Amino acid sequence: MHDYYSARAAEYDKIYLKPERQPNLREMETWISRVFEGRSVLEIACGTGYWTQFFAPRAARVLALDAAEETLKIARARVPPSKVEFVQGDAYEIPAATGSFDAAFAGFWWSHIPLNRVETFLCGLHQALEPGATVVFIDNRFVQGSSTPISLQDAEGNTYQTRALSDGTTHRVLKNFPARAELLEAVRRYSQSAAYREWDYYWALEYTLAA
Ligand SMILES: C[S@@+](CC[C@H](N)C(=O)[O-])C[C@H]1O[C@@H](n2cnc3c(N)ncnc32)[C@H](O)[C@@H]1O
Repeated sequence: MHDYYSARAAEYDKIYLKPERQPNLREMETWISRVFEGRSVLEIACGTGYWTQFFAPRAARVLALDAAEETLKIARARVPPSKVEFVQGDAYEIPAATGSFDAAFAGFWWSHIPLNRVETFLCGLHQALEPGATVVFIDNRFVQGSSTPISLQDAEGNTYQTRALSDGTTHRVLKNFPARAELLEAVRRYSQSAAYREWDYYWALEYTLAA
């Protein structure tokens, strides 16, 4: 994962140019820009800061974490630094937070979590947040003809895609497509309220962290 995203950093944002996805993206960008109004947001796996650029202007503060220095470099150039700090770090070992957060966001990260690490990831994330925090995940739905086909499924049910980069290299990348019920069940014990919504190509999970 780390090596793949380091190598892909410069061409990562091409994924946001697929013509058929533009109407969904505009709706989501508008929605996400309002969700974190006035909040201190911990962003996990921020990549090139594509989503950060939409919610940071209205947030009180953002700490955005990613494993790859190559994507962080693009993110730092994209989003003005007044409220956002981009930091290299591991989503599974979230550093002892500088300050506290009443919101968290991760875009297109859940799909890359191995099924047997989802709970560990969520526990670590929740430890960094205040009770009552708003947590939002967005990610891809699998859409035949638009999504990269699944090339492999392992014994635990994780699915993988074979992806090519413009330098000619190919990479097998873990990419899960959880169903609504699976997502809601994963956060049930941690949340006061949880809502799932979907667009043609994407889903969102939003919940309030229980006290
Ligand atoms: C699909 S990209 C999503 C980027 C961005 N959130 C977006 O929606 O455009 C996944 C990101 O996860 C990062 N990543 C991979 N493993 C990670 C880890 N263990 N901890 C933190 N970030 C990680 C990659 O560097 C990459 O930027």
